[in-house]
Amino acid sequence: MVHKDQILEALNKLIDPQFNKSVVELNLIRDVMVKEDAVSLSLLVVTEDEGYKEQAKAFIQQSLANIGVTQVHIRFRLMTDLERSRLDGTSQSSDTNPQKPVQPPIQQPILGQSSTVEFIAVASGKGGVGKSTVTVNLAVALARKGKKVGIIDADIYGFSIPDMMGIEEQPQLVENVIMPVEKFGVKVISMGFFVQDNAPVVWRGPMLGKMLRNFFNEVNWGDVEYILLDLPPGTGDVALDVHQLIPQSKEIIVTTPHATAAFVAARAGAMAIQTNHEILGIVENMSYYESKDGSVEHIFGRGGGAKLAEDLHSELLAQIPLGAPDNHISEKDYSPSVYKAESKAGQIYLEIADRMIAKLDK
Ligand SMILES: Nc1ncnc2c1ncn2[C@@H]1O[C@H](COP(=O)(O)OP(=O)(O)OP(=O)(O)O)[C@@H](O)[C@H]1O
Ligand SMILES: [Mg+2]
Repeated sequence: MVHKDQILEALNKLIDPQFNKSVVELNLIRDVMVKEDAVSLSLLVVTEDEGYKEQAKAFIQQSLANIGVTQVHIRFRLMTDLERSRLDGTSQSSDTNPQKPVQPPIQQPILGQSSTVEFIAVASGKGGVGKSTVTVNLAVALARKGKKVGIIDADIYGFSIPDMMGIEEQPQLVENVIMPVEKFGVKVISMGFFVQDNAPVVWRGPMLGKMLRNFFNEVNWGDVEYILLDLPPGTGDVALDVHQLIPQSKEIIVTTPHATAAFVAARAGAMAIQTNHEILGIVENMSYYESKDGSVEHIFGRGGGAKLAEDLHSELLAQIPLGAPDNHISEKDYSPSVYKAESKAGQIYLEIADRMIAKLDK
């Protein structure tokens, strides 16, 4: 028979979207009863957010199944005003370690309810379709349009943004707060800045979650208006963490034109829908190859982006041709993956930026 402590440990990773903290730390799991291999419990919620409830239910069922619980009965209970006000009080000192002095808040928290930052997560079903390329170029395009933009490289294991943008500096610490590195007017934070000599990252789930949280909370983002998140491929732990951490995030789904890629990408779309993330649109990357004489070849097939947009009731934002940026290592501000503004791909990214600005009303 499982013990209550095991149950709480298993549920520690469930994050309350209003407080951005573990429901176990916040003491929101109540009335735990264990009878042989069946468990019943209550989860306190701040709002009647059906999306979160469904997601929490699935998470609890799965986590408890992993420790041998076959039947779970979950009751959701809306917090009373008193319970809520107590939590508001405790969540101000977000540091649970009593040894450490509490840092004064240095800026508006970008995850807080009063934050006006627009989060755009760039997702895909499978790897190598161009998520990071799209993230970088859309961020640069928004900056070219005069917007204040940041990138969080949420691909903790497979970080690539610093190299793609040709960033060689490290973030500075100012008064114990990390300052993101700025390039092409975009503020960037990546695991790559904190790993020595390209050593592999061997951290596991809970530590990854912590690292991601630090990217939001311990970094001075200043007055950014848009933060783009480069997600790891697929619908794994980190993608789920991001969904839980930023329930207000919107998404762009990247696919190649091949039918199989679009089919796999639909899973990322389904995850966005399940977690109530609005899908801003689909970017079809590597859509076609245009040779110098202007003839067009559909090397990776065609139609995947349009089909995916239809399946997800979203729109196809752009079709980006094959072709590496025409950049040279001898150039000042060299970056392997950023298209010049006047190039064909650069122009398409500026158009996507316009669409985003119009859509998000900034
Ligand atoms: N339109 C394009 N034309 C030519 N090459 C491209 C294009 N888009 C991306 N690439 C190249 O394809 C490779 C994969 O792109 P990228 O790293 O952006 O994909 P990803 O989806 O982020 O991959 P991963 O899943 O590994 O994070 C890179 O080498 C990138 O430079
Ligand atoms: Mg990538």
